[in-house]
Amino acid sequence: MRKVLIAPSLFGADPLNIERSIESLKNNYDWFHLDIMDGHFVRNLSFGPEYCKALRKRYPDAFIDTHLMIDSLGVLLPIFLKTGSSSITIHAETEPQLLHASLMQIKQAGLKAGISICPPTPVDSIRHVLDLADLVLIMSVTPGFGGQKLIEGTLEKARELVSLREVHKYNYLIEIDGGINENNITDAVLAGCDVIVAGSSVFESKDPAQWIANARTGIKEALKDFDRT
Ligand code: DX5
Ligand code: ZN
Repeated sequence: MRKVLIAPSLFGADPLNIERSIESLKNNYDWFHLDIMDGHFVRNLSFGPEYCKALRKRYPDAFIDTHLMIDSLGVLLPIFLKTGSSSITIHAETEPQLLHASLMQIKQAGLKAGISICPPTPVDSIRHVLDLADLVLIMSVTPGFGGQKLIEGTLEKARELVSLREVHKYNYLIEIDGGINENNITDAVLAGCDVIVAGSSVFESKDPAQWIANARTGIKEALKDFDRT
């Protein structure tokens, strides 16, 4: 059975008690998902590089999955490469002419390199760099805000990425980000997603650790049924 990773989005944590929010996960997470917003690429602001460094210092063994929703990669990418992130994901819509070079920059720094596509952006637009990707992040909502509803049509991209990976022997994990809740998480897994980001549904639940435990059980059952068919 394939492994599915759960990545709580810290953007959904209590901003005045992020450490307490993290403790409420009781170590039952695989990655931390960290959203970086610049007020240009998206209409919101979130964390900066110092936050990311502090997270690394406090959780030395965690996989920090940093998602850059920013315009000025030339200025900020070199800074984020030195924050202790485990992976850096950049958007295909940001400076598409530099996408290949930026991914190379991330890989040369020894980090996992991710490419993200917004809901209107087709998988076709990143075909030329899929061989470089360790991660492909499908945005399933308009980026910038937590608590939105998943746009159903975006799951189709996961199926497309699964078949491209099979045909071309690519190595990327497929990640989904936005609007994931207890009712649609197995749909995302069955569509082929390997990494599930969830913010508000995890941190606004009564018991975040239990939310993840239930999600893992649901995923296991769904994959068992899927393998049988
Ligand atoms: C949205 C961010 C997401 C966000 C997900 O722009 O990229 O990571 O935190 O939040 P939920 O799970 O609430 O949609
Ligand atoms: Zn994100």
